[in-house]
Amino acid sequence: MNDLSIKLFSDLVQEQLERITKMKQNAKPTDYSALNPIIIGICGGDGIGPAITKAAQNVMAFLLESQLKTGKIIFKEIIGLTIENRAAAKMAIPADVLEQLKSCHIILKGPTTTPQAGDNWPNIESANVAMRKELDLFANVRPVRVPELGIDWIFFRENTEGPYAVGSKGINVTEDLAIDFTVTTTQGSERIIRAAFEHAAQNNKTKVTVVTKANVIKTTDGKFLDIAKRISKEYPQITLDDWYIDIMTAKLIDEKRRKDFQVLVMPNLYGDILTDEAAEFQGGVGTAGSANIGNQYAMFEAIHGSAPRMVAEGRDIYADPASMLRAAAMLLAHIGCQNEATVLTKALDICTVSERKLVITGRDTGCTCNQFADYVMQTCKSLWTV
Ligand code: IPM
Ligand code: MG
Repeated sequence: MNDLSIKLFSDLVQEQLERITKMKQNAKPTDYSALNPIIIGICGGDGIGPAITKAAQNVMAFLLESQLKTGKIIFKEIIGLTIENRAAAKMAIPADVLEQLKSCHIILKGPTTTPQAGDNWPNIESANVAMRKELDLFANVRPVRVPELGIDWIFFRENTEGPYAVGSKGINVTEDLAIDFTVTTTQGSERIIRAAFEHAAQNNKTKVTVVTKANVIKTTDGKFLDIAKRISKEYPQITLDDWYIDIMTAKLIDEKRRKDFQVLVMPNLYGDILTDEAAEFQGGVGTAGSANIGNQYAMFEAIHGSAPRMVAEGRDIYADPASMLRAAAMLLAHIGCQNEATVLTKALDICTVSERKLVITGRDTGCTCNQFADYVMQTCKSLWTV
């Protein structure tokens, strides 16, 4: 093994050990009810991001009219998280943008373009992944509900570890040998598994399903599974169910079995894959919101990408804001605006499932993003007065 590879690996290990030291400090969760004002950062991202984020902000502004008037809640626009700026700074999140993000308590974020091998952008890390790490947003919470199919799942995806922890720091040892790394820590596993069990306990759920590939990835996934087994003993009223990722992807489409899943917890990459599959039952990734929760900060986003092709073809005005609106509803619940969150969730169920007076097709055969947001707002209005 060459010296450079040894040095790179040793730096990697050092960085992860330092992260563990930070996690051990166990920061207290933010108490939003004690904040005055609550600063909500609005970060448009790029591609269709700015259009759908603005639409979601408008709907939130409608629901939060009185809190905005009294100054209890403030919106703060975050400028500059675009692929052009990130490429120019050669940073996943330019320093000035990170500073703006950290000056908010909670963030609504539009999709951001992720450079990949072979495209024209420099090899910078995904802004999503960087933000999750920088703000230590360890829990990626993604609910999927399809009442008519009996589906009511909530995924707790670990959000800072696995192959994502050092995904841009793999080592080309020689011309022929490339190695990536996956990371599992005790502290990182405990906090996400505990969050899943706490959610289950608080919502009268009877089962938590842990998903790994511990039969093959023995050291890291084995650790995650062992910790799940240990923590489950603290919750005797909840059954721990243990599946491998391959068969889990199959069981989600098994009509008889899938209804049994309730709360699911898993390492990062399995959660990435499984939540896209799960969202498909609900109508696709365009319909699902995603919460990224840490102790100090939280960020809410659509689970889909920035659709640069829609922008290139001039179709961004037809982009579907449903996923951002779902994210906005989760954000409202997280800061304690439960009534507003419930109204928005009900309105979205009406507008995207039961009534569908306006339909988004992504092109001029359907309504625009703004027309759809108005439709959601009108529906919220009718629900408010009932
Ligand atoms: C998601 C996305 C991201 C991820 C991408 C854009 C890096 O797929 O939020 O699920 O892999 O986490
Ligand atoms: Mg994904």
